[in-house]
Amino acid sequence: MRVIITDSYEQMGFEAAKLVAGQIYLKPNSVLGLTTGSTPLAMYERLLALHKTDGLDFSEVTTFNLDEYIGLSAYNPHSYYYYMQENFFKHININQENIYIPNGMTNDVTAEGIHYEQLIASKGGIDLQVLGIGQNAHIGFNEPDVRFVADTHMVELNEETILANSRFFNNIDEVPRCAISMGIKTIMMANRILLLANGRNKAKAIYKALCGDITPQAPASILQLHRDVVVIIDKEAAEFLS
Ligand code: GLP
Repeated sequence: MRVIITDSYEQMGFEAAKLVAGQIYLKPNSVLGLTTGSTPLAMYERLLALHKTDGLDFSEVTTFNLDEYIGLSAYNPHSYYYYMQENFFKHININQENIYIPNGMTNDVTAEGIHYEQLIASKGGIDLQVLGIGQNAHIGFNEPDVRFVADTHMVELNEETILANSRFFNNIDEVPRCAISMGIKTIMMANRILLLANGRNKAKAIYKALCGDITPQAPASILQLHRDVVVIIDKEAAEFLS
């Protein structure tokens, strides 16, 4: 595991963008696993800049997002589909047919999960998976639990996550209670994982992920078992690392 600690959030985004760009330069038809939330915004901003000024080419890139809320359509401004279009996809030259995000409007989450796993496999697997982390050390929407769930599946969000994510909604009652998320195996199968975090409110989760016991109670701790993880965090998120 390689840990890079940056002075600022912006620098975290810049370092992350360089790693993603390097992946695409080396393999133009890379399969990227992508994440949402406030953490990766600085990275997306830098990637857009690299596309505009340096011609970073996304035309052959395929993307798979980690998760989506159940019950929110692509047109809902709170959906992760909408977030990805607004913050990233509509600004780059990615082929819209190469964008995959779990369908939050499905009537059959189990079938959607199986289909998503098959799609990832059919593209040769994920080369680089970008992750944020929840304050409770969740990755994707894999919440603390008594066991790790392997494949893409339905998740009931816990109160802590609903509260944390309510800042994106008008009020807490609007936050969906369920989501569909890549599982722990889906994430761990990626060739390389890039974990991002910023801010003091992520410091405990980062400590648990990097230094704590490997336990489904802190889902990100499983990353200690992956052979190629790069962690890029600002100094506030690194507060408890020695
Ligand atoms: C959400 C997402 C995660 C994300 C996490 C942290 O619950 N499902 O993939 O990593 O929140 O979000 P933020 O970056 O906004 O703190």
